[in-house]
Amino acid sequence: MPRDIRGILLTGASKTLRVAARLAARAKGGETICLYGALGSGKTTFARGFLRALGVRGAVRSPTFALIHEYRRVKPQVIHMDFYRLKPNELDNIGFRDHLEDPSAVCLIEWPEAAEGLLPADRLEIRLDHGAQVVLRSRSPRGAKARREDGAQVVLRSRTMRLRAFGRKSSALLRGAL
Ligand SMILES: Nc1ncnc2c1ncn2[C@@H]1O[C@H](COP(=O)(O)OP(=O)(O)OP(=O)(O)O)[C@@H](O)[C@H]1O
Ligand SMILES: [Mg+2]
Repeated sequence: MPRDIRGILLTGASKTLRVAARLAARAKGGETICLYGALGSGKTTFARGFLRALGVRGAVRSPTFALIHEYRRVKPQVIHMDFYRLKPNELDNIGFRDHLEDPSAVCLIEWPEAAEGLLPADRLEIRLDHGAQVVLRSRSPRGAKARREDGAQVVLRSRTMRLRAFGRKSSALLRGAL
């Protein structure tokens, strides 16, 4: 049973970045954050917000092929993993268990389903889903003109985020941040 649960509507990628930054500001090291969600639901966006908040500069991309990116110069250190293309036995090669037990590093895991039985009991589970897509069309003459000219319309895309903390460390992280 989770200790703490939160649900958030993310009205744009910048909101995902902000929520991730708040959690990063509370992280001490030793936490595991599991990022569940369909393709394109915002898992890497969350990791980017988390890492940027800790001072990581430059592009933050998903380690889809490398499986793992280690950020050792920030505090707490971060290990970003993506198991979308995980093959059997590869978890041992990347030292998965050692990373999970490292008290100075936060583990961010995209597609954690592939490591299901090996995840620590104390973990923060984040589920991202595609929310409603709202299309706004203006009825004003200006809006009508814009549509005629280039078919312009405003599309608001959103995501929903559900956070569930299992255990003491992840609960402390979630409670203090959100
Ligand atoms: N809250 C949000 N609202 C709208 N768009 C978002 C939101 N969060 C992320 N996006 C956008 O969704 C797209 C996909 O995001 P991202 O790459 O983070 O997904 P992902 O879950 O890591 O995908 P994959 O499964 O391929 O690794 C990006 O263009 C990003 O800007
Ligand atoms: Mg990704």
